[in-house]
Parts: sequence; C-alpha cells; structure tokens
Amino acid sequence: MRTKVGIIGGGPSGLLLSQLLHLKGIDNIVLEKHSREYVLGRIRAGVLEHGFAELMREAQCGERMDREGEIHEGFFVSHDGIKDRMDLSKYSDGNSVIVYGQTEITKDLYDARDKMGGKVVHGALDVKPYDLTSDAPYITYRQGDDLYRVDCQYVIGADGFHGVSRKSIPKDVLKEYEKVYPFGWLGVLSKTKPVSPELIYAKHDRGFALCSMRSQILSRYYIQVPLTDTTDDWPDEEFWAELKRRLPEDVGANLETGPSIEKSIAPLRSFVAEPMRYGNMFLAGDAAHIVPPTGARGLNSAGSDIYYLYHALVDHYENGDDTGLETYSEKALARVWKAQRFSWWLTSLLHSFPEGIEYDRRLQDIDLEYLFTSDSAQASLAENYVGLPY
Ligand code: APR
Ligand code: PHB
Repeated sequence: MRTKVGIIGGGPSGLLLSQLLHLKGIDNIVLEKHSREYVLGRIRAGVLEHGFAELMREAQCGERMDREGEIHEGFFVSHDGIKDRMDLSKYSDGNSVIVYGQTEITKDLYDARDKMGGKVVHGALDVKPYDLTSDAPYITYRQGDDLYRVDCQYVIGADGFHGVSRKSIPKDVLKEYEKVYPFGWLGVLSKTKPVSPELIYAKHDRGFALCSMRSQILSRYYIQVPLTDTTDDWPDEEFWAELKRRLPEDVGANLETGPSIEKSIAPLRSFVAEPMRYGNMFLAGDAAHIVPPTGARGLNSAGSDIYYLYHALVDHYENGDDTGLETYSEKALARVWKAQRFSWWLTSLLHSFPEGIEYDRRLQDIDLEYLFTSDSAQASLAENYVGLPY
C-alpha cells in the first residue's frame, strides 16, 4: 500500500487529522490496533474549547456537536461550604466551552470517515514505523497471519501514551518530563439529572470532587481517591455518600443518585515528550503529552497539535512550503506546556495532598481567595479554560 500520510492510532487525534487531510485531497491511512467498539467504549472528559469545536466544524463533523452539545459560559468552584462562580464569558470576551463527550466526538469522526470512504484499518497489530529519517518511511503491521506494509511520505504518531511511535524515537534524542500525582479520580457515569446546570469543581478536606455531565439526563461525577483504591472499594451507595460529603450542603441535598453505568479509576499524571518530531514522523496528542483531567485539557491539547500539523501538511502539499513542518515541534510544545501549567495549577489548587504540609494548605486557601477577588486572576483562568489561541 502507498499513501502520503500514514497515521498510527485511530483515537480523536488520528481521526481528526485524517478527516481534515482527506477534505484537502491529501491521501492518508489510519492504522488502529483495537476494534471500533473498543475505542468507542472509553469514557473521557467532555469539555471542548471553542478552537477545538471550530476544527470539528472545519472537518465537517460539527453538526451533532452543535445540535446536542451544551454551551457553558461558566462553572462553579465550591470550597468551605460555599460556591463561587467563574464567569467564563465575562472574563474572556464572550467566549464559552461546549460540553460534549469525547466518545461522541470520536463517533462523529468515525461516521465522517465512513461516509467519505476514509481508510481506517482496525485490528492492526504489531504496528511498527521504519526509516523515519529517510524520505521514504514505511509502516508494517499484521492482521491475523497477514503482514502488510504502508509506504508513505510522513508518519503521524497519534497512538496515545502507550503507543509505539514515541518509543521508536532513539533514547538519546527524546527527553521525557513526568510528574505523577499521589491520587486518582474515581469516575461514575449515571442516568441521572445533573446536580447543577454548570460544572462544579469542589475542593474539600476529604478530597476533590467534580460534578459534570454529558446531557440533561446523563451525569458524570468524580471523586479524588487514593491510588491504592479499586472500583471494588466503591459500591455505588458509598460513592454517592462520599460525593455528597464533599459538596456544599445545598448542592448535596439536590443530588439525584442512581445505579452507575460506568465506573473507573484513572491515576493523575503530567507528561511531555520533546521533541514532537523525529525525521519524518510527527507525534500528536497523548502520544506526546498527558495532563491530569482537572480542567479538561487532554483532548483540547491534542486539538492544537492537529491544528498545527494539518496546516503544516497542507502548506507542504499545496504550496511546497515546509516552514510549518520545520517549526511544528517548537510551536506545538509552546502551547502544550501552557496547557501543562494550567492543568498542574488547577490540580494543585483543588486537591487534597496526602503528604501536604500546613503551609501548602494555607497557600491553596489564599490562591482561591485571590482568584475570586481579582479580575485579572479570573481573566487568566478564563482564557486558559476556554482555550489559548493557536
Ligand atoms: N498501533 C496502532 N494503534 C495504537 C497503538 C499501536 N501500537 N497503540 C495505541 N493505539 C491506538 C489506541 O488504541 C487508541 O485508539 O491509538 C489510539 C490513541 O488514542 P487516544 O489514546 O485517545 O489518544 P489521542 O487520539 O491522542 O486523544 C487525545 O483523548 O486519550 C484521550 O485523554 C486523551 O483527551 C485526550 C485525547
Ligand atoms: C468530564 O466531564 O468528564 C470532565 C469535565 C471537566 C473536567 C474533567 C472531566 O475538568
């Protein structure tokens, strides 16, 4: 097989790039290790920056997002029994975010790829890129007993944190930065009415909690838990009781509970790999960087990579201009690190740190007080939450 761009990974990053390139007539193939059902079974955050939403529209995949997604112009931060509202719209020149699940984004992208006859191979095993520093790289994979080879001009590593792409970069070229947090998030999805029309980020001595949603009949809640906990430690009733304890009383009193339809624990990690280019392979999304979920930057950070990569490849193929490709890693990383800073800051502000000292807890308190008494601090939070410019 021969194509222009060989994309490893059929998550949101790989699919979005594939769709955008296809619309510009740039031939590409997506190689995904798992089945579509498996990919669509993963539940991830559900807050979209306006820039990401714009990219979905440009990819002609924004129709359902615009119809079913909810525009949120603010969210709450609860602490010490009270709720402060972060007015995103007021502090970011009328901007907002869209609450729409990442699973739905991925589904819309798959549907669009199907409609246009996009080439997406599922169950592509033992994927391996070769000759990345030459101008004729190729990728091999296996399906059952059959071996395949894809010759291409560029390889895109969009295969997530555990993928093969980043691991193909020699150790003396790649530098990895990592911070692991001493807790995880236990997430529950339930067919209940969300407790609040806007998200609530709850800081509490017992640990952080988040009230989010997928729609007006589907809620998504999280509580901070020790890394040693498993979902068996958290039967539904205990989850609801603990969530309630971490919310202001009036909010907890309105909490509608019900059976969980999904329950999982995710550890919190910050990670960046530099550079994001090796020869003719470009990394994008989780393959190159991870954020803790606080502030929902994961998919949005992947979105900015795809934006830069898409424009760089179009400039190359349409105008013979390689500036975008040459500067991709530097440009993408500049924004990636800003999202890292924001996610780290919000995580540090709102969580309870098991080894934390009294001094740090006082700083958290004063940081929150400063936030909600300073227009500049709120403007800073707002511009990061709705998404920094590309
Ligand atoms: N070969 C082929 N595909 C692979 C391989 C491999 N060796 N390893 C992983 N994959 C696939 C995974 O099965 C997955 O579907 O690559 C895809 C990567 O998707 P994601 O992990 O969703 O990463 P990305 O597309 O960059 O999305 C970023 O989604 O994962 C969330 O938190 C993340 O919100 C962020 C966003
Ligand atoms: C979610 O809805 O899953 C979600 C929302 C906001 C976050 C993290 C997760 O900051």
